[in-house]
Amino acid sequence: MGLIDGKVAIVTGAGAGLGQSYARALAAEGASVVVNDFSAKAAEATVQDIVASGGKAAANIADVGSLEGGASLLETALAAFGRVDILVNNAGILRDASFVKMEESQWEAIMHVHLKALYASTKPVFGWMKDNGGGVIVNTTSTAGIRGNFGQTNYGTAKCGTIGFTNSLAIEGRKYGIRVWNIAPAAATALTAHMPDEYKRQFHIDRVAPTLLYMVSELSGEQSGKTLMAGGGWVGECRFEVHAGYVPEEAFSAHDIARAAGEGKIFFPERPAKWVTAYGPQAE
Ligand SMILES: NC(=O)c1ccc[n+]([C@@H]2O[C@H](COP(=O)([O-])OP(=O)(O)OC[C@H]3O[C@@H](n4cnc5c(N)ncnc54)[C@H](O)[C@@H]3O)[C@@H](O)[C@H]2O)c1
Repeated sequence: MGLIDGKVAIVTGAGAGLGQSYARALAAEGASVVVNDFSAKAAEATVQDIVASGGKAAANIADVGSLEGGASLLETALAAFGRVDILVNNAGILRDASFVKMEESQWEAIMHVHLKALYASTKPVFGWMKDNGGGVIVNTTSTAGIRGNFGQTNYGTAKCGTIGFTNSLAIEGRKYGIRVWNIAPAAATALTAHMPDEYKRQFHIDRVAPTLLYMVSELSGEQSGKTLMAGGGWVGECRFEVHAGYVPEEAFSAHDIARAAGEGKIFFPERPAKWVTAYGPQAE
């Protein structure tokens, strides 16, 4: 018996990389999968691969950042399988440049695929889930959105945006039985082809899907509105925290704040550089 037998899942950007890995894993656990990718060849190849392994899949070749494309995801799921239980917003691109060299086209392309798609692809599915007993939605963030990365002001902005989107949608989804997650993956894919060999060895692509399966299945119970970092055989929750802080006297000035900051009462201590640049607890 599979973890998600009889469920229907939509995975965007599933013609390659992590999306393809997720689609295969979801199908292997009993789900029927809508394989979206704007590369028709890639989407069809993933579908054929799943079907050849005894699974059920249907292709959708829409651009997830367009309203028509987003609407077509739900249409494909309903036409092929009659329902939808899981949506994985995974499709992504990079358009890296230092901020002084960042062109408007690079900025817009990132916002289209990573942020506009959250609206365009999620809204129809969320509406259907609301009227049909709930579901699970997983969005995709990145360490670039959580910690920042040189050359990725566009991508970092969008990926931090997925956290805000997830937090709010999880609150709205609660009364409809819709759980909403964020995943921050790390894996050797076309997107990370520029990374060093050490990264590629550590972050094998199939070491993220078990975390996704946990999130979308009953194994995670009522959990919602959380971000899990997953990669290289490691998984852990990521969250923003506020320092216990400083309570000033009734009358206080900027100088009082500066004094408290100097006494370590406001900011978190700096992490060692190694912790900031590497991924996961193995770097601590
Ligand atoms: N690989 C990593 O280590 C890593 C780290 C952090 C975040 N991510 C995020 O994970 C997701 C998957 O990344 P990946 O590494 O598998 O990338 P990938 O390049 O291997 O695959 C992405 C897929 O998305 C498709 N796609 C792009 N734009 C699309 C659009 N508008 N509509 C439909 N399909 C589209 C591409 O054709 C491609 O097949 C992305 O959101 C990425 O930002 C990846």
